[in-house]
Amino acid sequence: MSRVAVVTGGASGIGLGVARRFVAEGHAVAVLDRNGGGAKQAADELASSGATAMAVEVDVSDWPSVRDAFAAVRAQLGPVTILVTSAGVEAFDPLLEITPERWAQIIAVNLTGTFACCQAAIPDMIEAGWGRIVTISSQSAQSGAPNMAHYSASKGGVIGLTKSLAVDLARKGITVNTIAPSIVDTPMARAATESGNFPGIEVIAPLVPLGRAGTPDDIAAACSYLCSEESGSYITGQLLAVNGGMYI
Ligand SMILES: NC(=O)c1ccc[n+]([C@@H]2O[C@H](COP(=O)([O-])OP(=O)(O)OC[C@H]3O[C@@H](n4cnc5c(N)ncnc54)[C@H](O)[C@@H]3O)[C@@H](O)[C@H]2O)c1
Repeated sequence: MSRVAVVTGGASGIGLGVARRFVAEGHAVAVLDRNGGGAKQAADELASSGATAMAVEVDVSDWPSVRDAFAAVRAQLGPVTILVTSAGVEAFDPLLEITPERWAQIIAVNLTGTFACCQAAIPDMIEAGWGRIVTISSQSAQSGAPNMAHYSASKGGVIGLTKSLAVDLARKGITVNTIAPSIVDTPMARAATESGNFPGIEVIAPLVPLGRAGTPDDIAAACSYLCSEESGSYITGQLLAVNGGMYI
């Protein structure tokens, strides 16, 4: 069945992979991203195959901008019943150098932004009596990660948020789950490699039990499973670690 899906962070990396997978499955997709040009490029690419797609520039940490973005999607595509929240920023700072402003910035995008988008989408799902939400957390919230106290805390918050939404929405036909990737080969991971904050995809990949870094398609496949009519209907409040077996 064709649904209206919103993918935040859909201009790049994991979000773009998820958006591509959803149009291939016949869904109409709205790409929401702070990078308006990138979102438009992604939506144009998705639409070139005949799919229904649109782009909205939005900063997920800005609540009014999130409300306006979902109103625009609703007006153009109809009620939103699938949401994947992939918009996020990575951060590396030594523990004692994290300023209040830096802390607030990371939490605002990764955690508050995730909640704002869920809150904006949920009324449509309640009305439809059906919904699927997949948040993107991180393995760093499970294991901890060096110089990532703010980032790991934001992603740990996403896990708790996901579990609470799942409980709140369980009797409304809406499932809410989170995917915790480890290392996924995306522009974000490449930028961290180039900045020297991270040992590098080529260094880490052989250490992954499955012998390679993840791809956006790997995450998209898990999203597809969790958002499907059948597989997704009795799975809620879960963390799916799509990490090649990597927990360090
Ligand atoms: N790549 C990895 O190894 C990895 C591992 C674990 C978790 N994650 C998480 O997966 C998600 C996607 O990461 P990615 O690797 O695809 O990164 P990416 O940088 O390729 O894509 C992230 C997208 O989010 C958008 N974005 C950032 N801030 C935004 C904001 N305030 N409002 C709207 N859009 C915003 C960016 O413009 C970008 O298009 C992130 O939440 C990230 O933390 C990634």
